[in-house]
Amino acid sequence: MGNKKILVTGGTGFIGSHTVVELQQHGYDVVIIDNLSNSTIEVLDNIAKITGIVPVFEQFDLADADRTTDFLHRHSDISGIIHFAAFKAVGESMEKPLHYYRNNVQSLINLLEGMKNNGITNLVFSSSCTVYGQPDELPVTEKAPIKPAWSPYGNTKQMCEDILKFTTMAHPIHAIALRYFNPIGAHHTSLIGELPLGVPNNLVPFITQTAIGQRSCLSVFGNDYNTPDGTAVRDYIHVVDIAKAHVVAVERMLNGKCKLDLEIFNLGTGIGYSVMDVINAFEKVSGEKLNYKIVPRRPGDVEMVWADTRFANEELGWKAEKNVDEMMLAAWNWEKALAAKKI
Ligand code: WQD
Repeated sequence: MGNKKILVTGGTGFIGSHTVVELQQHGYDVVIIDNLSNSTIEVLDNIAKITGIVPVFEQFDLADADRTTDFLHRHSDISGIIHFAAFKAVGESMEKPLHYYRNNVQSLINLLEGMKNNGITNLVFSSSCTVYGQPDELPVTEKAPIKPAWSPYGNTKQMCEDILKFTTMAHPIHAIALRYFNPIGAHHTSLIGELPLGVPNNLVPFITQTAIGQRSCLSVFGNDYNTPDGTAVRDYIHVVDIAKAHVVAVERMLNGKCKLDLEIFNLGTGIGYSVMDVINAFEKVSGEKLNYKIVPRRPGDVEMVWADTRFANEELGWKAEKNVDEMMLAAWNWEKALAAKKI
């Protein structure tokens, strides 16, 4: 009996590549689909440097229904799918809503169609805490009301969760949606990490690129929020903790432990950190003084959000292990490794 095969869409991306490493190290055979729109093919070699196994890879766009159907027909022995492939920049989605709806929603529909037609029954979906908007109560639980989306990006995650709800009711498919809070950091080998193409949208790569000298100054988007130090609060979580949760979710499905057609879990640490907390943690672990300035708020940003993690801790048996200092040190080591390669 060979190893079980898992398809990872978006597997050369930030969270995808860390999840491929964990899957391989847990004995799964991994196949990756990626269109390389926001990642590079070198990631495959770097994954292999960590695990000794080069993942099977096919490059195409999941928004292409024919290519997706053909792939799933050829790989109908897949035991499960983890679907990361999506555009995920909140700000960019405000400028290109149709780009986001077509890519993020059509890709999921094509995958589900192919699963239904080829008897593939298990899907883990990459969702996001952005579905909550600004919660009325904190920490936010999976039962919190889904509020009107603040961006097309967040709206595509809400739509995809609804598509999963009704599709898993109608067809023999189980799905687990994992709502990520703010994934940051990198693998301890510094062989894989967050590699934003172009100017980073996210806070942590902008911090490390400023400290390494690639950016001149970090802009802190607002210090007039109703928070302890005025800067916005998020639940930052190490990307490897996120990756480990995906292996737990896959095994829950393969072992027939799902209790609902669609299960939803928050993936956070349960701790909220402000932008200044993150900057202070970075300066502490790196010994670098960060150049930053306070500028007006960024449109679309919520003020404060952090996870109630009890359901994932108790039902999945998973708990985030790494603290913000470890996350920021891993992110800094990764940035230094990138700079060393450029020399
Ligand atoms: C974090 C904080 C900014 C950049 C992300 C993902 C989204 C979803 C949720 C997964 C905010 C501030 C940022 C900068 C700053 N994750 N900031 N200066 O907006 O919480 O969303 O996590 O699905 O996909 O994008 O993350 O890193 O952009 O911002 O002050 O240059 O840092 O205002 O308070 P965000 P972020």
